[in-house]
Amino acid sequence: MNATMGTLSDAATGVAGRADAMDGLRIRNFSGTVGEVTVANPRMRTRGVDVYYGDKHAIKNVTLDIGSNEVIAMIGPSGCGKSTFLRCLNRMNDTVEGCRVTGHITLDDKDVYDRQMDPVVLRAQVGMVFQKPNPFPKPIYDNIAYGPRIHGIAASRAELDEIVESSLRRAGLWDEVKDRLDQPGTGLSGGQQQRLCIARAIAVSPEVILMDEPCSALDPIATAKIEELIDELRQNYTICIVTHSMQQAARVSQRTAYFHLGDLIEVGETTQIFTNPRHKLTEDYITGRFG
Ligand SMILES: Nc1ncnc2c1ncn2[C@@H]1O[C@H](COP(=O)(O)OP(=O)(O)O)[C@@H](O)[C@H]1O
Ligand SMILES: [Mg+2]
Repeated sequence: MNATMGTLSDAATGVAGRADAMDGLRIRNFSGTVGEVTVANPRMRTRGVDVYYGDKHAIKNVTLDIGSNEVIAMIGPSGCGKSTFLRCLNRMNDTVEGCRVTGHITLDDKDVYDRQMDPVVLRAQVGMVFQKPNPFPKPIYDNIAYGPRIHGIAASRAELDEIVESSLRRAGLWDEVKDRLDQPGTGLSGGQQQRLCIARAIAVSPEVILMDEPCSALDPIATAKIEELIDELRQNYTICIVTHSMQQAARVSQRTAYFHLGDLIEVGETTQIFTNPRHKLTEDYITGRFG
């Protein structure tokens, strides 16, 4: 039985207690996941995570490490819990009515659900890019400057300018927008808007970027650009991407996690998952028998 996040973080336990909790969960955890759920250099760790929407058990006892500077793909049939799991990582589920998360999640060994953790700060450290690009109805410049402003990251206008430029450069968008920074972000093409949203996430120096089907509203050329970008971003960030495209998972990720009805069925090197899946359900999915 997992303690609730609240109970675990009621920090009478302190750091040592927390380590015990992690070990305890590791020993107790028997989710039946096939493959190596831990990595040598984790950025985030989830241990025995369950998610409920009211009575609906959407994520079942999921234990998984997210490694530093890796792209990990979450795949599985619609409704299997990919988005729900992703939203646990930066507490986006906190905002969902009736949603309850139990288990243990850390970012660089800090308890993500600790009372001391400010969800707004957490969501800067663990940024998110959604399926439908959602730029603010503001100038391109302000879309990027918004986060650094609210988090007090830039000390001067010159510094803010520098953050805006470098974020847009990293997102591969600078050359396309540098002459129209004062024009609305909503006026860009879909692919440009999505790169703008990635630049907005980057602007607050995240550790991890979560992407929930970031290309499903884009054409193939815009998709190719985002995929190229994901590969470059891996040098500086950890990326967790949900995709319904197995080709995309194979192209962009180093590890793949396969979910089915809320269970993490299998995780492994992406090439292994797609060429030599070990679990029958994974095999059925990747060979197109269902999904
Ligand atoms: N806000 C919600 N309220 C109730 N049930 C939800 C909510 N969001 C998702 N679910 C349910 O949780 C399960 C997992 O959903 P989701 O994480 O969106 O799956 P996926 O992203 O893999 O398609 C589904 O059965 C879905 O219907
Ligand atoms: Mg989803």
